[in-house]
Amino acid sequence: MVLAAAIARGQAARSLKDAYQEFFRIGAALNQAQFEERDPRGNPIIAAQFNTISPENALKWQSLHPRPDGYDFAAADRYVAFGEKHGMFIVGHCLVWHSQTPQWVFQDTEGKPLTREALLDRMHEHIRTVVARYKGRIGGWDVVNEALNDDGSMRQSPWYRIIGEDYILKAFEFAHEADPQAELYYNDYSLENQAKRKGAVDLIRRVKAAGAPITGIGLQGHMKLDQPDARQEAETIEAFAALGIRVNISELDVDILPRTAPRDSADISATAAVNAQSNPYTNGLPEEMQQALAKRYAELFAVFVQHRDVIGHVTFWGVTDGDSWLNNFPTRGRTNYPLLFDREGKPKPAFDTVVSKATSTRTPVR
Ligand code: G3I
Repeated sequence: MVLAAAIARGQAARSLKDAYQEFFRIGAALNQAQFEERDPRGNPIIAAQFNTISPENALKWQSLHPRPDGYDFAAADRYVAFGEKHGMFIVGHCLVWHSQTPQWVFQDTEGKPLTREALLDRMHEHIRTVVARYKGRIGGWDVVNEALNDDGSMRQSPWYRIIGEDYILKAFEFAHEADPQAELYYNDYSLENQAKRKGAVDLIRRVKAAGAPITGIGLQGHMKLDQPDARQEAETIEAFAALGIRVNISELDVDILPRTAPRDSADISATAAVNAQSNPYTNGLPEEMQQALAKRYAELFAVFVQHRDVIGHVTFWGVTDGDSWLNNFPTRGRTNYPLLFDREGKPKPAFDTVVSKATSTRTPVR
């Protein structure tokens, strides 16, 4: 009955979390409307399909700790309560990042750059306050986010410039001190690219050798249709697993839109043409593109399933296509199709290939 009703409504009759139960958790990043149960389209999907969640923006420094003298935990509390209500593994994203962090964090009361000691104290206070508040409830934290440049060198963020490379070690120590049971991750994008991967592997070796209690890596997994390829993805997972840490795919999506050309003309009609070219599917995704996306997700999940022994969770960065940050990046206002559920909340062909990947692995073909 329930199944028939779901099919009649065009909803998924099968669930990702059940299909992958023996392998790894499956999650989604939630926006505020979703964890406040104000998204009638997204909420039934979240409850039925996922057993782990990440907060898209609600736990970033600027959301939690907008002023030097004050925290605002209202939204974060609701996020955690939502995850508990649904029995989900709750991820915290993210403690230390260069982005979505207010300027005051790096300055004294006169607006001058903080000293190393003062910034370490501020970081310690923030991590202690936030991690301790959700001790035993948030199961894993993105402790440090995006500390590397694309060539694998250290990003010259204010954290790095003021404290030095050991800001990373310290951040992990502070998080561990506040919740010794929590999983602690380093999270970054484009780690499939050789130079950045090498930089990250070396960095993790160094901080582990110095005693950092790091338990896992988040490969963000913001993919294109053709990159990274399956071999690169497999090698990347293996390179981090070889360090003795767990691997999570923390922000999965597949950007199917053409790369945007830089604007090089003041001619409005030329700009309009570029816009049309870069945003070709405003009226829906053609069947061949649906199939290409489905094939791409099948290829990626084949790699994940192969590496199930080292993977903790695979989390999509959003629930339905309409929610995705990729509608606004790198160009605002496009119509992208990066996820498994369409704008009406219906499962796409990619959903079916992802579910089948798990089913076919469990049931050996005779
Ligand atoms: O909240 C304001 C709203 O008041 C305002 O009207 C609106 C108009 O622009 O902006 C809203 O803020 C936006 C915010 O998301 C909430 O929707 C910001 O402009 C926008 O920049 C911000 O984008 C977020 C982005 O991180 C910022 O870096 C995306 O939602 C979020 O998906 C994205 O997530 C990051 C991960 O944290 C780290 N890895 C990459 C990933 C994708 O960029």
